[in-house]
Amino acid sequence: MAVIAVTKESFAGETRVAATPDSIKKLLAAGFSVVVESGAGAGASIPDSDYTDAGATVEKTGKAALAKADILFKVRGPGAAEIALLKPGTLVVAMLNPYQDKVTLDGLAKAKATAFAMEFIPRITRAQVMDVLSSQANLAGYRAVIEAAYAFGKGFPMMMTAAGTVAAAKTFIMGVGVAGLQAIATARRLGGVVTATDVRPATKEQVESLGAKFLAVEDEEFKNAQTAGGYAKEMSKEYQAKQAELVSTHIAKQDIVITTALIPGRPAPRLVTAAQVASMRPGSVIIDLAIEQGGNVEGAKLGEIVETRNGVKIVGYPNLAGRIAADASNLYSRNLVAFATLLVTKEGAFAPDYADEILAAALVTKDGAVVHRT
Ligand code: NAI
Repeated sequence: MAVIAVTKESFAGETRVAATPDSIKKLLAAGFSVVVESGAGAGASIPDSDYTDAGATVEKTGKAALAKADILFKVRGPGAAEIALLKPGTLVVAMLNPYQDKVTLDGLAKAKATAFAMEFIPRITRAQVMDVLSSQANLAGYRAVIEAAYAFGKGFPMMMTAAGTVAAAKTFIMGVGVAGLQAIATARRLGGVVTATDVRPATKEQVESLGAKFLAVEDEEFKNAQTAGGYAKEMSKEYQAKQAELVSTHIAKQDIVITTALIPGRPAPRLVTAAQVASMRPGSVIIDLAIEQGGNVEGAKLGEIVETRNGVKIVGYPNLAGRIAADASNLYSRNLVAFATLLVTKEGAFAPDYADEILAAALVTKDGAVVHRT
């Protein structure tokens, strides 16, 4: 029977955990046994006793948990100290940030770990249930609106009271992937007046179906701006200039701007300039969800709320999904349960099928080498 270890996250500020009592029950049913490091669930409000009740063994240290493990489940990649504890051939399953974090990939390869980057799960129907980018981005999009509402000194919905009217918050969502769509839906639920933009033409209909207005330069380049995989392409300088002009007049009138634009494997595109920030009214709020990939907003700082000279707040919190850690852990751990079923036979015998399209796509290190890097 294969043993899965779940250890504390060492990545700074990481509150999520890779297993919940619910996911552990499912892993046991699939034929695994689970060892959890004491305190691993603390950031997501899961006490050790809940893990024990669900059928896991709790060990005092990560070292003790790993000593028994065939597989390590984590949210982020293990740090150097933890990598040093891995037995050769241990399977490591985590969001390894493979485009940016070469050090961890090299470390895992050197330790002869067999590592899978959950970000590389292909976006095919069978793998939807394992899609960590979607499960986490959806929650990040929701939380971005909540953070915006919190930082904003005015209300979101229009309120007509005897003492006067409170105006609805004008909210602009830039980048309409999974996070952007949830941000639109959440801002609408709160009563905001919502507009949105993206370079992928398919998003126009999605924006409108959520009751928001779409804003973009819809030229020939825009019509071809989606890759076969459904992702955005990097746009030409000319397109970016035209789009920036259209967006400029719009941004100046917004109360809240939420940016979520990403291009896989590339730095985040710059969507909001310092001049555009300066054009906004005092008290306006910008949330830069792309901050960990370099940010969409000029002047945004990782982990900080920057208040500009004209009184605009730019929120640069990383890991917004981690600010809703219980739900994020719940969904992430369910993604891992689905992935784990690929590692065993129907009878529960440990036998990863490396020929499987999903495992092959996610595999990043094996037998001492980095096998996937792009
Ligand atoms: P993402 O996180 O890579 O990027 C976020 C958004 O930013 C995207 O919509 C992208 O088009 C946009 N963007 C990039 N550059 C921009 C710019 N210069 N200006 C404005 N917007 C810009 O995207 P995410 O959320 O991962 O979704 C990408 C696609 O994958 C979508 O089509 C989504 O519907 C699709 N998808 C498919 C799934 C499946 O089939 N299993 C699951 C989840 C998403």
